[in-house]
Amino acid sequence: MGWLSKSLNSSIGKKIVMALTGLSLILFLTVHFINNMFLFFGKDGFDLLVGSLDAVKPLVRVAETALVLLFGFHIFNGIRLWWENRKANPDKYAINAAKENSTFFSRTMPYTGGIILIFLIGHLATLWVKFNFGMEGTHHYYDVVATMFQDLPTAIFYVIVMLVLGFHLNHGFQSAFQTFGWHHKKYTPLVEFIGTAYAVIFAVGFAAIPIYFFIRSMGGN
Ligand code: HEM
Repeated sequence: MGWLSKSLNSSIGKKIVMALTGLSLILFLTVHFINNMFLFFGKDGFDLLVGSLDAVKPLVRVAETALVLLFGFHIFNGIRLWWENRKANPDKYAINAAKENSTFFSRTMPYTGGIILIFLIGHLATLWVKFNFGMEGTHHYYDVVATMFQDLPTAIFYVIVMLVLGFHLNHGFQSAFQTFGWHHKKYTPLVEFIGTAYAVIFAVGFAAIPIYFFIRSMGGN
């Protein structure tokens, strides 16, 4: 197994792990996004959707374990790459030179990633814990989300983080394709366009949820 740890610890190995876990997490986010869009179609549909997952709980737990591993590898490798980069470019000159070869989105990946990690811890500690251990036999999942976003600071925090998520995805998507060496004069601009479109749809769609519930709560609903 020495060869495996050697490959995973090489610079390209770490980048491949980032790309594979990142693309898998985008797949999870797509499903999560679609599920959350049910919030716009009223209480019954969303409560039925979340409640129906009770019937396949063991499967959900397997998926969640895979998700923890994916996030874990992605974060651990991201921190290692960031740290090695810092060690390799300690002086100001190197940072300025790096600026010429990179974009704002690529340079901010460790910071946007860090903000998403802080968000994720809070997100799971509130919504996931409540959905899984705090419903006391009721299935009023929709009300939990609606009540949470009546709070202005929470709604603002979610909106800001969803914009940050958009920044992270915008670079992450195209960077994964670059890591695999899929560079093509004709197709690379298309990959970049798809990455940006994905990032904008996720950021705007997710951010619309807290905005919708907060505005609705002002009208007394
Ligand atoms: C406004 C945006 C979002 C809303 C309303 C939302 C809502 C929820 C809800 C209600 C749950 C509990 C689901 C359950 O346990 O059945 C959940 C879980 C989760 N969310 Fe989010 N989410 C949002 C954005 C995000 C983002 C941006 C990420 C990732 C960066 C994320 C990652 C997760 C994860 C990993 C779980 C636990 C896995 C799962 O149970 O599906 N969420 N979310």
